[in-house]
Amino acid sequence: MTRKVTKAIFPVAGLGTRFLPATKSIPKEIMTLVDRPLIQYAIDEARAAGIREFIFVTSRGKGALEDYFDHSPILEQELRRKGKDKLLEVLKSTNMDSGAIAYIRQHKALGLGHAVWCARRLLDPKEPFAVILPDDVIAAEKPCLQQMVEAYEEHGGSMVAAMEVPAEKVSSYGVLDIKEDMGDMVSVKGMVEKPAPGTEPSNLAVIGRYILDPAVMNNLNQMKSGAGGEIQLTDAIADEIGTERGVYGYRFSGQRFDCGSKAGFLQATIAFGLSRDDLRDELQEYLDELSAVRAAAQ
Ligand code: G1P
Repeated sequence: MTRKVTKAIFPVAGLGTRFLPATKSIPKEIMTLVDRPLIQYAIDEARAAGIREFIFVTSRGKGALEDYFDHSPILEQELRRKGKDKLLEVLKSTNMDSGAIAYIRQHKALGLGHAVWCARRLLDPKEPFAVILPDDVIAAEKPCLQQMVEAYEEHGGSMVAAMEVPAEKVSSYGVLDIKEDMGDMVSVKGMVEKPAPGTEPSNLAVIGRYILDPAVMNNLNQMKSGAGGEIQLTDAIADEIGTERGVYGYRFSGQRFDCGSKAGFLQATIAFGLSRDDLRDELQEYLDELSAVRAAAQ
């Protein structure tokens, strides 16, 4: 029997320099896809998977992120007074239980593994935990982390979300060396962070969802310096390979958007816009117009 996964770590300490100048004054995680901040997508996915405690690893300048999770009684009162029930519901659905969120600072940008390690005292040393990278936004019928929790209940060990990526992009990811391919699940015999082009063990890349055995946190204590001179989460997970717990990759179903890149962010904006009843027709009409203009110009 595996233990229940109830805690998730959200590493959100990054400076978001790819989105300057916007990120001069707003944390990247507050940037909106349609009308919801990036972080809300991650929170909703975690909640659907049964996560009850949310640990944010932050840094200087992330105040707006903390404020976002406060309740807003004055706004709620105003919406109630005006009878704007739908908006009130939207607002209330973002409210978090008191004490469900913890913030911890990463004082130095030493890598993703280090960010996760900063949360160690907030975890139970016997319990598995999830890690969600909010830059990876996944649209799926069944939320990705929930798919993984279900698979985890069968297999245990440590599990990373995985997806095949085009050959020219593999070296920007953590990459899996596959031991046994079971379809949705693969067991892993190696894992390498940002392999040099030409040395990738496969094109099956790690996407930012993890369910990790507490042993991974112990492995992080070694503070091994990895790719780019950073302390890499990938390396601490790779140390689990060959133990009785093991490491698995899970090919989730759903569409992943790389919202750490501008093109990915724009694609996600369009996809989420098109999935909304109140926006679909107008947006689709505009996209059709655009492609007609483009076709005529060719
Ligand atoms: C991080 C991880 C990498 C993973 C990627 C997924 O890299 O280190 O293993 O493949 O997220 O988005 P980053 O994008 O922070 O460079």
